[in-house]
Amino acid sequence: MTAKLNVNIDHVATIREARKTIEPSIITAAVICEQAGADGITVHLRQDRRHIQDKDIELLRSVITTYLNVEMAATEEMINIAADTNSDAVSLVPENQNEITTTGGLDVVKNLENVRVAINRLREVGIFVSIFIDPDEKQIEAAHKSGAQQIEICTAEYAEMTLGSRAAHGEGSLRAAQEIERIKKAAVHAKSLGLVVAAGHGLTYRNVAALARINEITEFNIGHSIISRSIFVGLNQAVREMIAAVSNKQN
Ligand code: PXP
Repeated sequence: MTAKLNVNIDHVATIREARKTIEPSIITAAVICEQAGADGITVHLRQDRRHIQDKDIELLRSVITTYLNVEMAATEEMINIAADTNSDAVSLVPENQNEITTTGGLDVVKNLENVRVAINRLREVGIFVSIFIDPDEKQIEAAHKSGAQQIEICTAEYAEMTLGSRAAHGEGSLRAAQEIERIKKAAVHAKSLGLVVAAGHGLTYRNVAALARINEITEFNIGHSIISRSIFVGLNQAVREMIAAVSNKQN
């Protein structure tokens, strides 16, 4: 079975916020992604509101016909917004003020009580809850205990090993292969506990195929690579090419 693709459109809003203006429209972006065959749209409402704004979530909710997944920190403010907007899913992620992007998974072991409270609230209003974690057995066990229905495996370390000159060198490809094994083991373990398994972060047209072969992973959340490619080929084409990359398990 081919995994689903949710397109993360945060960086369409990044371009808009660079000028604090009204274009490019993330609503148009979401509709184009859906028309191209994406299974869902993912956005990250950050506490500093650097790209996606509260209003975007409301508008996206009213136009998205596939699946709206909102990434957020497990804070009271964010959980209230999620409950009010009624997204299909919430992905709980860690957030550090000065990071360029999410760095690593949420430490559920350390924050179990806080995470459990957040998940209870979200599940009470019918929202499907995913937690973004590293491919680590203890984190998976904690995610299971927290009441999450899904884990999203952080693929950042794997992705890092596949980039540019690193990938061309022996050590990079060896470490990438080790990461694939670690991700696979984590996916199998999570599935055996009854968790749905997603993966994402730093995935590209080139490096996604190795993870697409892991049958336990049923969803990918991919943003930067698709939005980058859309500058040259258009968003519809960029999404179609990523759907093909996720479906092509041969490469
Ligand atoms: N999954 C999660 C939890 C993320 O925080 C992000 C980045 O916002 C992604 C997936 C997508 O990462 P990328 O933009 O590198 O594809």
